[in-house]
Amino acid sequence: MITYNLTNDDRRRLIEAAQQVRSKAYVPYSHYQVGAALLTPSGKIFTGCNVENSSYGATICAERTAVVKAVSEGEQDFVAGVIITENGGSPCGICRQVMFEFAPDMTIILVEGSGKILYEGVLHEMLLLGFGPDKLRK
Ligand code: THU
Repeated sequence: MITYNLTNDDRRRLIEAAQQVRSKAYVPYSHYQVGAALLTPSGKIFTGCNVENSSYGATICAERTAVVKAVSEGEQDFVAGVIITENGGSPCGICRQVMFEFAPDMTIILVEGSGKILYEGVLHEMLLLGFGPDKLRK
């Protein structure tokens, strides 16, 4: 993996994008809005919000919305991601796994509603010994 030095401008752009998409969250059940923004190595940003469902298990988290949008547009590599919630909530296990598939070394930044960064770390440290595609390759 090529080391990517995240700049404060990247952080600012990601936080702005995540804040914007968070307002689109469809959350009539939990009322917990989540916004995610993923940065690709070329500087492109993909965003996603959580979309709940009356059949609760059909809900998709913000992080997975963003990953699915990116992959379906042909982008499979991410250098960083911002997740914004009212209180700095961190990605669930399923979202960690889905992001790990594509970018175990990406930086994860947790941000609270005001825009304040509460945590910045590396995904593979948030999903220790994570299962990845290398285990299935011959
Ligand atoms: N949620 C996310 O969008 N991302 C996570 O990683 C954790 C949970 C959403 C799902 C649901 O709409 C709401 O937050 C409460 O669980």
